[in-house]
Amino acid sequence: MQKTYKLALVGATGLVGRTARTVLEEKNLPISEYVFFSSSRSAGTKIQFMGKEYVVRELKEDSFDEGFDFAIFSAGGSTSKKFAPIASSKGCIVVDNSSAFRMEPDVPLVVPEVNPQDVSWNHGIIANPNCSTIQAVLPLKALDTTYHIKRVVYSTYQAVSGAGQKGVLDFENTKQGLSPNKFPHPIYNNCLPHIDDFLENGYTKEEMKMVNETRKILGNPDLKVTATTVRVPVLNCHSESINVELEKDFKLDTLKETLANFPGIIVEDNTLENEYPLATHSSGHDEVYVGRIRRDFSVENGVNLWVVADNIRKGAATNAIQIVELLIAEQ
Ligand SMILES: NC(=O)c1ccc[n+]([C@@H]2O[C@H](COP(=O)([O-])OP(=O)(O)OC[C@H]3O[C@@H](n4cnc5c(N)ncnc54)[C@H](OP(=O)(O)O)[C@@H]3O)[C@@H](O)[C@H]2O)c1
Repeated sequence: MQKTYKLALVGATGLVGRTARTVLEEKNLPISEYVFFSSSRSAGTKIQFMGKEYVVRELKEDSFDEGFDFAIFSAGGSTSKKFAPIASSKGCIVVDNSSAFRMEPDVPLVVPEVNPQDVSWNHGIIANPNCSTIQAVLPLKALDTTYHIKRVVYSTYQAVSGAGQKGVLDFENTKQGLSPNKFPHPIYNNCLPHIDDFLENGYTKEEMKMVNETRKILGNPDLKVTATTVRVPVLNCHSESINVELEKDFKLDTLKETLANFPGIIVEDNTLENEYPLATHSSGHDEVYVGRIRRDFSVENGVNLWVVADNIRKGAATNAIQIVELLIAEQ
């Protein structure tokens, strides 16, 4: 008989948590028991899941005493910092969507198409990378394997859903002329070159997450990476311009094939028909869409990419559930 597992979804009522419920229903993993947690605010909420009614429970210090195999945390960094170590101390493997543990040396940071092998050295917590990093490292890994990456320049165009329910509400409120609560300026009709807090080096935390997480996932701590991250008035799906300098020369057609053959990537690149990745097309999908693939003539072996993905699905919920799938396959 096939072994079955017990999974906790922490932050089940949030944007990522709700999508995680949808993805779990789609995937139908060998999980026989699900428990949904939120803060006291949403505790008691009734949700329909896989044809059954569940009541959302308040997350407490003794929540993991009943024994879980896996927990997906999507409830912010402070909740993860407090509760993920409690869960893992009780034998539950945590897949954490927050930034709390991503750069800890003993915590693997995993994108299943890129570094699935890193799952095996976990010590009870596996980190899910930042949404903008996840979609970027698929094409980067494809190029790195064949051509060796020298330098990466990111410019992002990130959706308001990346800032959770409060981000979506700010978009709707500022569209009606109301004051923002989440972002420092109205996001409606604006592009804000400001995601997360500013640091002493002039970058934002989001920009440094992209730099550091890319290096960790690709296993190249010295990789030259720079980033400018921008919040744009788009509801869902992050778009990214990625400029990549390669060690080796390439033929553009072969490079496009390399990208198209990589798992999880769909190349959408037919400018004659005005076809390139769009947020509205990518929303609701798990793949990373890559287009506008063209040589950067300003350097020796450079290429420009336009990369779009659903930040709530591949950028968070789906990637976390793929990690659980890897863990189940490993057991
Ligand atoms: N949105 C994205 O694109 C994205 C991508 C990658 C990673 N993430 C990360 O995923 C996490 C969730 O993001 P989100 O966009 O889903 O945010 P969200 O829409 O604001 O939802 C937050 C969730 O966390 C729960 N929560 C808050 N405090 C809690 C506590 N003390 N104990 C238990 N549950 C608590 C909330 O429950 P209540 O309903 O009770 O408030 C809600 O279910 C964050 O760490 C975020 O950085 C988000």
